[in-house]
Amino acid sequence: MVKTITQNISLALLIAFCLVLSGCGRTHDKSFLNTAAYPEYAYLALTPPMGWNSWNFFAKDINEVNIKATADAMAASGMRDAGYEYLVLDDAWMAPKRDENGALQADPNKFPKGMKEVGDYIHSKGLKFGIYEDRAYRTCQSLPGSFEHEQIDMATFAAWGVDYIKLDSCSAEGNGRLSSEDYGIYRECIEDTGRDMVLSISDFGNAAWVWGGKESSQLWRTGWDIRSWMDSVYNCAECSGGSHRSHPAFNGLWQFAGPGYWNDPDMLQVGNFKIKDETVRASANKAHFGLWCILAAPLMAGNNLPTMTDTVRDILNAPEVVAVNQDARGVQGYKVFVDGKLEIYNKPLADGTTAVLLLNKGRETADITVTWEMIGLSGKQPVRDLWGRKDLGKFANAFTAKALGQHGNMMLKIGKKGKPLPTPAPMPLEKYTITRQGVTSLSDLYYAYRDYSVPVYNKTFEGNPIIINGKTFEKGFGCKSKAAFMFAGTERGDHLIGTVALDVSYQGDNQGRFRIFHEDYFGNRVLWDSGQMTKDTPAKEIDIELKDYNCLMLTFDGRNIETGKRANDVLGVFADPRVIADD
Ligand code: GLA
Repeated sequence: MVKTITQNISLALLIAFCLVLSGCGRTHDKSFLNTAAYPEYAYLALTPPMGWNSWNFFAKDINEVNIKATADAMAASGMRDAGYEYLVLDDAWMAPKRDENGALQADPNKFPKGMKEVGDYIHSKGLKFGIYEDRAYRTCQSLPGSFEHEQIDMATFAAWGVDYIKLDSCSAEGNGRLSSEDYGIYRECIEDTGRDMVLSISDFGNAAWVWGGKESSQLWRTGWDIRSWMDSVYNCAECSGGSHRSHPAFNGLWQFAGPGYWNDPDMLQVGNFKIKDETVRASANKAHFGLWCILAAPLMAGNNLPTMTDTVRDILNAPEVVAVNQDARGVQGYKVFVDGKLEIYNKPLADGTTAVLLLNKGRETADITVTWEMIGLSGKQPVRDLWGRKDLGKFANAFTAKALGQHGNMMLKIGKKGKPLPTPAPMPLEKYTITRQGVTSLSDLYYAYRDYSVPVYNKTFEGNPIIINGKTFEKGFGCKSKAAFMFAGTERGDHLIGTVALDVSYQGDNQGRFRIFHEDYFGNRVLWDSGQMTKDTPAKEIDIELKDYNCLMLTFDGRNIETGKRANDVLGVFADPRVIADD
């Protein structure tokens, strides 16, 4: 995972060179990519995938007419030439039943000529064809899913000329497979078809970066579905670039992305905001797009292309902003400054310069200053405005963006060409992975994934000492329902021990349940289950053998004792959960 910048760039160049020699990677020898630093299928997406997806604007309302009009508009608007290559049909393209051979078929009302014809049309426009499926029996819209039809569905897609598959996870808990197994099966079936297809993990941000998504897939969601308002956009951005999904010590998920594997904060809503004020709306569109570019996020537009305004088109096509996203070095940007609603992100580029986003998420107009110290520079440095496409001059030690209003932002390129600037050191593996000899207390590690409420280290959720039956525990986690957090692991035989109880300060009547999972919720692989506990239930001891696990997720859920409904007020403690190595 840790690779030097020069290795990084020279390998990216080597890959690009090989792709050119081999005619865009259809039949070339992929074995040279089998290095420790790069996943096997990295060549499928050396830079973040770019395209358009039907869901954010059309939802279920897709058909031959609006899809073909979108393909036309992708070509005519300059988007294709700006790099948007995949046209992806999301959920609800398929008929409610498979054909007599068990194959998926197009909804005959929406796509009367079938999907191959749609794919051919998309290809005829110089674009690539993407399609949606779900890894359960049914999709999120209750249409036929691919579970137990993996081989035939991937073969069908290949026959239709599909180049990109978004594979969703609704109902996948019923599969009895870990997510890593599931996506691995699809990758093998794709491989069997002999056709290159990008695999996009759509799983509401359930830790693919921890459980090894990059072995099979090129991008994975980092959060819940994006909506067409800015709170949702900022929330999705925080999953990938902030601490909504990982311990704050990681400073976002930047270290889990690189050429061939990308954190996906979800598809773009640029052009979909219903903000009345035109200036604020334009700022919002730019803030959203700028964030996705600095975060090296996949750029899947989600607006109505045939009717988009020139302003929206120019934002999506802004060549110098898109170039930041597509930079060959593939570093995901990270925060270097936060002051309330004011943020600065930095993304060191392949050419030795660095891209910087200055963003005002608040309502109050503000100045934001980036100092050269924040971004690893010094002295006088040239500054270029990437939205305005103009040089702003040379500045000593700092640059100030003045009077940024709500969602106001500047995207800059700073510095001179030359040796690539260093990134911060990534979090070392041993700080979030159970790799140690002897005893590893989980609260000595950083969780690499979480959802819902934030667990408190070595204290109860309310900040008091962890005490069970009069004994004080120095280590452990205080949780408030609902909580879920994950640590990476190694595949060795170990024991997990620890104690759980509801927090003594919790005097309510609701129930709490502690569970330990191997991997995420979808795998449904529960290693230990406390059952429902009330404030009167004696503490329970965890003592389990761990075999072949690659990560552990600790969860705590509260339920109303009478209705069985979720209760968010229950407090519980994991007292010193620790892994004991067998050797
Ligand atoms: C899920 C996904 C969305 C979209 C819908 C379609 O919610 O996260 O991106 O694909 O399903 O039903």
